[in-house]
Amino acid sequence: MMLRFLVCSSILCLVWATSDNFPQCEVKVTCSECIQTTGCAWCSDENMLDNSRCFRPDVNLPYISDVCNEEYVYFPASSIEAEEKKVLQPKRLLPEKYNLNLRIDDPIYLTIRINRTLEDLNNLPRLELRHTASNFFSVDFKCLNNATLPISECDVIDGVQYINVKITAVKCSKYEKQLKQSFTVYASGMDDVVHIKTELLCSCSCEKEGSPGYVSKSRFCNAVGTLKCGVCHCNPGYFGNHCECNMMYPFEISTCTPPGSNNSLVCSGRGTCICGMCECEQRPLKDEVYSGKWCECDNFSCPRYNGQLCSGNGVCECGKCLCKSQWAGDACECSNSVESCMLKGNSTICSGRGDCICGKCRCHNKQDKGKFCEKCANCENRCEELQPCVLCQAYKKGPYSETDCLEKCQPSVILVDNVEDGLDEDSTLCEAEYNATCKYKFVYKPTTDAFIIKATTKTQC
Ligand SMILES: *[C@@H]1O[C@H](CO)[C@@H](O)[C@H](O)[C@H]1NC(C)=O
Ligand SMILES: *[C@@H]1O[C@H](CO)[C@@H](O)[C@H](O)[C@H]1NC(C)=O
Ligand SMILES: *[C@@H]1O[C@H](CO)[C@@H](O)[C@H](O)[C@H]1NC(C)=O
Ligand SMILES: *[C@@H]1O[C@H](CO)[C@@H](O)[C@H](O)[C@H]1NC(C)=O
Ligand SMILES: *[C@@H]1O[C@H](CO)[C@@H](O)[C@H](O)[C@H]1NC(C)=O
Ligand SMILES: *[C@@H]1O[C@H](CO)[C@@H](O)[C@H](O)[C@H]1NC(C)=O
Repeated sequence: MMLRFLVCSSILCLVWATSDNFPQCEVKVTCSECIQTTGCAWCSDENMLDNSRCFRPDVNLPYISDVCNEEYVYFPASSIEAEEKKVLQPKRLLPEKYNLNLRIDDPIYLTIRINRTLEDLNNLPRLELRHTASNFFSVDFKCLNNATLPISECDVIDGVQYINVKITAVKCSKYEKQLKQSFTVYASGMDDVVHIKTELLCSCSCEKEGSPGYVSKSRFCNAVGTLKCGVCHCNPGYFGNHCECNMMYPFEISTCTPPGSNNSLVCSGRGTCICGMCECEQRPLKDEVYSGKWCECDNFSCPRYNGQLCSGNGVCECGKCLCKSQWAGDACECSNSVESCMLKGNSTICSGRGDCICGKCRCHNKQDKGKFCEKCANCENRCEELQPCVLCQAYKKGPYSETDCLEKCQPSVILVDNVEDGLDEDSTLCEAEYNATCKYKFVYKPTTDAFIIKATTKTQC
C-alpha cells in the first residue's frame, strides 16, 4: 500500500484540488468502488468503527492517521515509468516505451520527442500524432507550452519537437483481462511508434483470495464470514458488522450479561446488546472508554493520587493501575527507589531486617522497631557505641580528646532538661555511668541524615 504523498516524490506529482464537486467517498462500501472514485482512499483497519472506510484524505495535511492508521491506508495514484533504451538506430519518436499505472481520473503527463530533420519539415508539413488507445482512455496532445495548436505548428527546438501528452483512464472494467491494455502513439508518415503499456488500478488486492487482507472464516467475522479489506462479508444467514447476528435469533440477549450472574445488568448498564454482543456507550470525554465483552471495564475509574489517575505513572485497565516499571502501589504512587529506606552512611536496606515498601521499611519481625528497623528486639542497642561521643560533646569528659571528638563524632548533642520528654517509637533511651557516683541519660533517634542525640543537662547522683 502506498500513500499519495509518497508517490508524489516522483517526477510527476499531481495533487487533487479540494473541491466540493468531487463525488462522495463515504457512500462507497467496497475498496474497489472506493478507489474507482476520484480522490478517495480506503482504510482496511478492521477495528475502525465510527468513520466510513472510504474517505477523502485532506491533501493539505501530511498526516491522515487521524482517520486511519497509515499502515491500513490504500490510496493508489497513477504512476509512470519511461523506458529509454540505448538507441541503436536513429529514432524519430522518443522515448520508445512507457509503463503506466492509471487510476481513474488521475491523469499522467508525459513528453514525447519527435526528431525532425529539415527533410521531414519539408516532406511532412502536416505531421499529426495519433494513438490506438481504446475508449478506456482519453489521450490529448499539446505543444510543449501547452498551446493547443496542430502538432505540426509546435515549436521545433534544435531539430526536436516536444509534445506533451496527457493520458487519463476514464473507466474501469470488471473483466480482469481489460485491466491491462497496451496501445501506441505514432506520427503520420513516420515508422517509429511509442509503446504504452497500461495497468488500470481498479481493484484492491485485499478483495482477492490468497492476498493479505483476505481472510476466510475470519475470527473477526465470528468465523461465519470472510474478511475483505477490513470488512466482513457474512455467509448466508448471518449479518452484522462482525456477522454476529443470526437471522434465526436476531435479538438474542442472554450473552450480553456475564455467565452465571443472576440479575446483573445487560452490558453492565453501559451499552446496548446487539445480536448478543455488547456495544459499549461512548463517554462524552474522548479519553474515557468503556470496554470488555460486557462493557464491564473502563479506563478512567482507577485509584488516583495527587489528583492524577494512577499518579500519572501507569495506565488504567479495567479499574486497575498497570504501573510503569519503576513504580508500584494501587495508584502507582510508590517509587521503587530504596534510598529512603537506608540509614545514613549504610547501604543496607532497612538494616537488613525489613523490606522497603513504597519508600518505607516494613520490618520482618514485628518486634523490631525504628524507621529503618534498626531497633532490633534481639540485637544490642547502640547506647554503648554512642557513649564516648555523648560524653565528650555534652560534658567534655570520657575517652575522647577534644580532637577525637571533632573527628569522630557527628553533629552536636543537644542538651535538654528531661530527655524523656517527647520520647517516641523511633527513639532509644540510654542510661550510662558518668562517674563512680553519678549517672546520665541520653536519647538517640536515627534519621536518614544522622542520629539526633539529646542528653540531660544534669547528671543524677
Ligand atoms: C534524429 O534523426 C537524425 C536523422 O535521421 C539522426 O541522425 C539522429 O541521430 C536522430 N536523433 C536521435 C536522438 O535519434
Ligand atoms: C503544461 O501543462 C502541464 C500539466 O498541467 C504542466 O505540468 C506544465 O508545467 C505545463 N507547461 C507549461 C509550459 O505551462
Ligand atoms: C443466583 O441465584 C441463586 C438463587 O436465587 C443463588 O443461589 C446464587 O447464589 C446466585 N448466584 C449469584 C452469582 O449471585
Ligand atoms: C482510554 O482508552 C482510550 C482508547 O484506547 C485512549 O484513547 C485513552 O487515552 C485512554 N484513557 C486513559 C485515561 O488512559
Ligand atoms: C549497616 O547496618 C547493618 C545492620 O544494622 C550492620 O550490620 C552493618 O555493619 C552496617 N554497615 C556499616 C558500613 O555501617
Ligand atoms: C561525679 O560528678 C559529679 C558532678 O560533676 C561530682 O559532683 C562528683 O563529685 C563526682 N564524683 C566522683 C566520685 O568523681
